[in-house]
Amino acid sequence: MKGVVLAGGTGSRLYPLTRVTNKHLLPVYNQPMVFYPIQALVNIGIHDIVIVTGGHSAGDFLRLLANGKDFGLKGLNYGYQEGEGGIADALRIAEHFAQDDSICVILGDNIIENNVCEAADRFRAQGSGAHIVLKEVHDPERFGCPEFADGKILRIEEKPRKPKSSYAVTGIYFYDNAVFKKIRQLKPSARGELEITDINNMYLKEEALTHSILQGWWTDAGTFESLQKASNLVASTGANKMEGAGSGAYGKASVMAGAQE
Ligand code: DAU
Repeated sequence: MKGVVLAGGTGSRLYPLTRVTNKHLLPVYNQPMVFYPIQALVNIGIHDIVIVTGGHSAGDFLRLLANGKDFGLKGLNYGYQEGEGGIADALRIAEHFAQDDSICVILGDNIIENNVCEAADRFRAQGSGAHIVLKEVHDPERFGCPEFADGKILRIEEKPRKPKSSYAVTGIYFYDNAVFKKIRQLKPSARGELEITDINNMYLKEEALTHSILQGWWTDAGTFESLQKASNLVASTGANKMEGAGSGAYGKASVMAGAQE
């Protein structure tokens, strides 16, 4: 499985902070935001990673991340999204990189307290289709929100006015290689974007979408409130924690300079 970090978009909800730089280069406590999703991928044993970004500050990602040495990586790949056509539009850029492999996609503004090893194991065992990671939240209307029947997801609504559950679809997705074919079938939504929620609903229709519930805190960092919340959470508890870090299969990779003690 390969890893994809999506770090494009305008970050318009953070103007003027994002007028001269990319949202994912802003600090979250003591590290640039994009460090957290990269570490989350490394923590599930993924070492082949592409960062998809866009806009004027794309070159700064290369200067910041170089070959991924901070994460114990031998190299990093980069992709460039023209415009900001949505999350699924950014993911399209990763097709060439993924080749025939499955992928774990993490949105560049998503930060987790622990890790997604359990979800990764479930997806690896599943072998095909898709797996999404849910988290109970107090404001599901801000996110992709699942509707359930008998513990199964019926469908997912993007930013519903009247949420049908108190769960958010986090920005951590596992897909088989068919995701790229599905992206080619997408039509832009009312807000003019290719929506990742439409992709997840396509997998649902095929009965090929499974889910798990994330343990520990999760937050995005794309608004002033959530950016501040993310910094406070990282400062108080640390992020991307691994149980038994340093001794387990993924332990070494998780011991990275920065937020983790
Ligand atoms: O954080 C989880 C949520 O992320 C999900 O629950 C929603 O279903 C999903 O649509 C998304 O919602 P947001 O409104 O938070 O998406 P946003 O436009 O802020 O984009 C999130 C990240 O995706 C952003 O940090 C970088 C990447 N992105 C986004 C767009 C629109 C791109 O790389 N390119 C883009 O064109």
